[in-house]
Amino acid sequence: MADIFWWVIFPYITGTIMIVGLLYRHTFRQLTWAAPSTNFFEKKWLRIGSPLFHYGIVFAFIGHVMGMVIPMEFYQSIGISDHLYHFGAIWGGGLAGLMVVAGLVILLIRKITIDPVRIKAGFADFFSVLALLFVAGTGTYMTVIFNTTVIEYEYRETIGPWFRSLFVLMPKFELMSGVPFIFKLHVASAFAFFATIPFTRLVHIFSFPIRYPSRAPQQYRARDEYQRQES
Ligand code: HEM
Repeated sequence: MADIFWWVIFPYITGTIMIVGLLYRHTFRQLTWAAPSTNFFEKKWLRIGSPLFHYGIVFAFIGHVMGMVIPMEFYQSIGISDHLYHFGAIWGGGLAGLMVVAGLVILLIRKITIDPVRIKAGFADFFSVLALLFVAGTGTYMTVIFNTTVIEYEYRETIGPWFRSLFVLMPKFELMSGVPFIFKLHVASAFAFFATIPFTRLVHIFSFPIRYPSRAPQQYRARDEYQRQES
């Protein structure tokens, strides 16, 4: 019964909240669809934390497509052994995960310690960083510590096919029952996090994500520099 809740009902409820919430915000609150920059208040740590996090999350996303979306049989058919796949996943995924976690920690400390940044940040801003830190922290722990010290867990036989089965509306929830707890925690917390996206600045994920890490570094220009450019 618990399996049906966590691996059928919960992902569909959280997925529905995310889709309906995004449609609502896009339709009725479009002017709030943004991630306003705090670059004006503090630049040094933002310049380190933000690209670390954003490039890390893009790499981690690619890793998730490789592990959750592409079936294991595909790798076998092109001659990539299980060992080679996990070697790549641990080193590539581990590096991506460490970048994400380090970036988030820098951004969080900056949010707490730099007065104007803290004052401008609302509950939703702190919440999204902490929630991401939890999801990315468990993911990185799984990749870097669990996979190397406990077992090299083959999630491509369980979590991957379960995840894909959600999209054809035939959830194979039974695949999730024997999954190690830390993996279950990671996946369930990721789905809980998805439901919160429409209510935070993370809506910007859905608007040209590739441009965010490299967007104009100066949202606000110093007056003298501006004048120099003008003349
Ligand atoms: C906001 C959503 C998510 C974030 C931020 C996130 C983040 C991460 C990070 C940083 C890692 C470690 C590095 C890596 O392997 O890429 C990881 C690993 C992992 N994640 Fe996620 N994840 C999310 C959602 C999910 C979902 C929905 C699933 C499953 C359906 C999932 C399954 C996994 C698995 C199986 C691993 C271990 C990969 C390995 O060890 O090779 N994640 N995640």
